[in-house]
Amino acid sequence: MQATGIAALLSLWEAACRMVDISDAPVTIVDYGCSQGRNSMIPMRKAIDIVRSRADATIPIEIVHTDLPSNDFSSLFEALISDPNSYMTGSSDVFPLAIGKSYFAPLLPPGRVHLGWSTWALQWMSTNAVDAPDHILAGMSRSPAVTAAVAAQQASDWQCFLTQRSREMRPGAKLVAGFTARADAETGWEWLLGELWSALADMRRDGLLSEREQEQMTIPIGLRSLEDIKAPFRQSGSFADLTLEHLDLVKVSDAFWPEFDGSGDRLAFARQHADLTRAWSGPLLASVAPSSCEQTAFVDDLFSRFERRLSEDPRPHEPYMAAVVLSKKPH
Ligand SMILES: C[S@@+](CC[C@H](N)C(=O)[O-])C[C@H]1O[C@@H](n2cnc3c(N)ncnc32)[C@H](O)[C@@H]1O
Repeated sequence: MQATGIAALLSLWEAACRMVDISDAPVTIVDYGCSQGRNSMIPMRKAIDIVRSRADATIPIEIVHTDLPSNDFSSLFEALISDPNSYMTGSSDVFPLAIGKSYFAPLLPPGRVHLGWSTWALQWMSTNAVDAPDHILAGMSRSPAVTAAVAAQQASDWQCFLTQRSREMRPGAKLVAGFTARADAETGWEWLLGELWSALADMRRDGLLSEREQEQMTIPIGLRSLEDIKAPFRQSGSFADLTLEHLDLVKVSDAFWPEFDGSGDRLAFARQHADLTRAWSGPLLASVAPSSCEQTAFVDDLFSRFERRLSEDPRPHEPYMAAVVLSKKPH
């Protein structure tokens, strides 16, 4: 799913790499919310190739990967050496760096960044604003109090991210971002995360957690609408010297569905979705699991129930992604 969404952003990224001013070396490219970096290899390689085709073939390029301090940066550096797609393979004068700090704070000196890239990260809130009594994902709750708290947190986080990035971007710099968002009537996560919430409710019925503990198992993700993303730019057309050059909503297709459609193998389809969902949500869910339980065993139980539910009623999972291009005011 992540790679499919990234593929949809690549033409915007290539255009940004072709347009941005690269008259000053080194060229600094930042990957915000990199995780273990495997999905960053292709976009970073494309940026290197385009920058090199426009300038001296040895122009130094620094690639800065940022994520939270808890991120597995060792796997990132390992992937840079051993991943067959690594942008380091066959490259010279390319300098990878990493920063372990939230992007809701300053990360780099003012005016340093030429190009920014961020995928599947900005839906995470900077803090768990509120526990949801009726859904595992804060942003999918129907409670008016939760909806209001999530909207306020997401609006403030978006403004904070824009302000921090604007400071470190050079005049004319560009940032391309893709993150989970919502259409007016749906998010695309209804089936998948509805089943995860139902699996948790099954555990509650089996006496494995209390009502309060179920509520505490809230994933702090909010899904912005296109109007939410536009909001800071509405009054004057720009915000913190940034303009919103491009914004659209992409429906990401289910990468596992064609295989299931051919094989009819419900168990394999359910396992693929359960594994992917656990990869991005498992650590957070373990951290908020009831303290009376062994956390890994609790999350194992949750995801095996989830997988069973998915296999009983397979459907295509087609979430929405906002595709955003921001541009810093030129000199
Ligand atoms: C689903 S992963 C996406 C990884 C990669 N960009 C991709 O597209 O496959 C989201 C990443 O965003 C990171 N993230 C979430 N909030 C962050 C923050 N405030 N600052 C930096 N990274 C953050 C998470 O730690 C996680 O590694």
